[in-house]
Amino acid sequence: MKFKNLLYQSDNRIAYITINRPDKLNALNALTLKEIYEAVKLADEDYETRVIIITGSGEKAFVAGADIKEFSKFNQIEGTQLSTKGHQLVFDFIENLETPVICAVNGYALGGGLELAMACHIRIASTNAQFGLPEVSLGLIPGYGGTQRLPQLIGKGRAFELILSAKMINAEKALDYGLVNHVISLEELLDTATKIALSICKNSSTAISSAIYAINAGFDVNKDGYEIEKESFGNCFGTADFKEGTQAFLKKRKPNF
Ligand code: COA
Repeated sequence: MKFKNLLYQSDNRIAYITINRPDKLNALNALTLKEIYEAVKLADEDYETRVIIITGSGEKAFVAGADIKEFSKFNQIEGTQLSTKGHQLVFDFIENLETPVICAVNGYALGGGLELAMACHIRIASTNAQFGLPEVSLGLIPGYGGTQRLPQLIGKGRAFELILSAKMINAEKALDYGLVNHVISLEELLDTATKIALSICKNSSTAISSAIYAINAGFDVNKDGYEIEKESFGNCFGTADFKEGTQAFLKKRKPNF
């Protein structure tokens, strides 16, 4: 599949998706969002792919937000549609994907860029990364899940301060807040993401999908996370991976998932 605003590469069971509009700091216009959906879907449906890594091209920005120029003339109806479609197509889609997604934040992660990072399951950042939800400085609020996922990740008080002040925090602060799991040099960022991906690839993909489902259920007001955990735990006993994993342990060999 050919993309205009993305680079797609698959290697050793890992799909790498690079958002590639560096002259616009990888801002998310409609085409880029559509292509992110298509690329993530492609990777998720590829039986060989076990982990997806999303990053941005260039050394300055992961994603500097939704494309302000594109939505600057939108009315209320178009604004609502923009948010609703974005949630469904990309942000909720990624969060609920069966394949784990690691975000390697290589610079500015602002507005929709931070929201994209927060929809991913794991975030790591380079030392030059900057994080923020500056929407209120544009007369907007975060519309791709930022008001919900930021408090989940860093707590309500910190989220209020970050969203209401529209200020940016650096990578060190993001690590301190628990917004990212690791901070590394830009040169080592993708290698570190790949190492994390490879450590995930060794495990059962069916169990990993169930774990994602159960963890997300705990943050969904319409679901009972504990009930979903019990049910998903039980379902694991019916999988080939459960047989392989337990037999491998008992026979003192490595499992072949
Ligand atoms: N939407 C559309 N275009 C954007 C963009 C966005 N969110 N962020 C950056 N760009 C474009 C700029 O318009 C500029 O394009 P141009 O060269 O055609 O004028 C190009 O990317 C480079 O950005 P520039 O502002 O010149 O870089 P900078 O180093 O001076 O500043 C930022 C970097 C990230 C601080 C600044 O670009 C910025 O504040 N961006 C918007 C962040 C934002 O509010 N995001 C939330 C959107 S809801």
